[in-house]
Amino acid sequence: MIKVSNLNISFGENVVLNGVDLEVPNGSTIVVLGRSGIGKSVLLKCLVRLIEPDTGQIEIDGKSVLNLKIKELNELRKEIGFLFQSAALYDSMNVEENLAFPLKRHTELSDKEIKTRIIEMLDMVGLQEALKKMPTELSGGMKKRIGFARSLILYPKIMLYDEPTTGLDPVTSKEITRLILKMQERFKMTSVVVTHDMICALSVADQIVMLEDGKFMFKGSTNELIKSSDVFLKNFLSTNLENYPKDPSERR
Ligand SMILES: Nc1ncnc2c1ncn2[C@@H]1O[C@H](COP(=O)(O)OP(=O)(O)OP(=O)(O)O)[C@@H](O)[C@H]1O
Ligand SMILES: [Mg+2]
Repeated sequence: MIKVSNLNISFGENVVLNGVDLEVPNGSTIVVLGRSGIGKSVLLKCLVRLIEPDTGQIEIDGKSVLNLKIKELNELRKEIGFLFQSAALYDSMNVEENLAFPLKRHTELSDKEIKTRIIEMLDMVGLQEALKKMPTELSGGMKKRIGFARSLILYPKIMLYDEPTTGLDPVTSKEITRLILKMQERFKMTSVVVTHDMICALSVADQIVMLEDGKFMFKGSTNELIKSSDVFLKNFLSTNLENYPKDPSERR
């Protein structure tokens, strides 16, 4: 579903991605790990051309993303939900208006159908009561969930999550992780999840990659990651895995 080959991007002297290759099969979930500032958000943004890479190829759903004209790109973007690192709601609109926005812009749905879809999505993230609230009235976790509902509202085939649980308490983080799993199961979505939260990572990943020095220095399954003898990986895991439950039944 997603295939990235030899992706490169620099900002001036700052080489951020330097030959990134990535393949995400249809319906599967890849988790991207890496230190802060290493280029994870840049990678996600390149996939939908919110940032234009310098060179490389990106294929999504059979389309060569970097060659698309703006109209074709907009068509493709409708198939892709993006949960941004900051919830990115419009502060001047209430929750209902925030959720209606993509539907009015990209679909021919009637007002009644729009309302039904909004309720469905709010129900999915467990926040029906937030319909008429303004973003300023919501907690960080609630904003994240509304952002989640909005990124799903066009029923995307692909979801890109940028640190979906960062800044949330462990209970809310677990809820968001559960939502990601629910989306995978219910809609068989193809997902790319950028996260520092190892509990989330190990719960949702079919495949894990570690970005370092502009490249993936590790690609493999969660088990391969845990068992790796690489010193850098071991350090990364030990600093990020302190709260990881030993009992598998406690991980979800
Ligand atoms: N639009 C931009 N213009 C110039 N430099 C940028 C731009 N966006 C990102 N960068 C730089 O690219 C590098 C990677 O940034 P990025 O946001 O991808 O990091 P990240 O891995 O997502 O970090 P974090 O975990 O803190 O979110 C940083 O050095 C950042 O300063
Ligand atoms: Mg980031």
